[in-house]
Amino acid sequence: MRTIREIKKQREWSKEERANNSIIGLVPTLGFLHKGHLSLVRKAREVSDSVVVSIFVNPTQFGPGEDYKEYPREEVRDLQLLENEEVDVAFIPSREEMYPEDYETYVAVEKFSKNYCGSSRPGHFRGVTTVVIKLLLIVQPDIAVFGEKDYQQLVIVKRMVRDLNIPIQILSSPIVRERDGLAMSSRNRYLNPEERKNATVLYDSMKEAQQLVNKGMTDVDALKKEMIKIIEGRKHPRVEYIEFVEPETLKRVKKVGVSNRILMAVHIGRTRLIDNMEIRGQVE
Ligand code: PAF
Repeated sequence: MRTIREIKKQREWSKEERANNSIIGLVPTLGFLHKGHLSLVRKAREVSDSVVVSIFVNPTQFGPGEDYKEYPREEVRDLQLLENEEVDVAFIPSREEMYPEDYETYVAVEKFSKNYCGSSRPGHFRGVTTVVIKLLLIVQPDIAVFGEKDYQQLVIVKRMVRDLNIPIQILSSPIVRERDGLAMSSRNRYLNPEERKNATVLYDSMKEAQQLVNKGMTDVDALKKEMIKIIEGRKHPRVEYIEFVEPETLKRVKKVGVSNRILMAVHIGRTRLIDNMEIRGQVE
């Protein structure tokens, strides 16, 4: 595996690969890799000849007062994990290379970026789409793989690629969960042992919602009330939002249809966790 830190070198590598007709797969990450990331790497491996994993804690997607500084960084460990996965390139650009002092240009998927996580994290998705388009232009992959854990992000990236006619296929990979259901996330490491136990409440409440739908409850307000009851039955949580949406457009629904998505953000102590799940209603 090669570690490339300069944009110019990454471009040269990609140019050579493309000249050899290799299909390049990219997995963009913030680092501090876990099994969820490795599942994305494996998916990229299945569909590409060469796999590039980028590690970059992107400052433009963190708001003031968020955890940019504390975000866990463990490069040596990450590189070992990627080496084990037989990744071809770890692309690790510096902040200065990605955003020189006079940097001015941002890309935003307007409407999709405002709701849900976008309301409590203004500017977050603009930072994500900006760095993603930069990575796509630098690495020039044929395929890029994103996790379903950040479902809103996935929909936004797909829309950006569609709207800007970027000739890259965006693939996704399902959430990887701990044994007790907690979605894997680098931020789980902020949870103390008691909070960690309570953090399963996101998944538990979504599973309960599915059971209620199976029993015939399809009204979203009623389902949300039941979910909030479960969540507030535990210590430390604060619900930021729970929404039931159309999977492609992220439009809110009032009744659960054949297939919708639950999106949610809950604060457990000082840690903000997000999760999502497909919820299936009756076939009409
Ligand atoms: O999902 C992430 O890890 C990040 O938002 C991404 C896509 C790597 C952009 O910085």
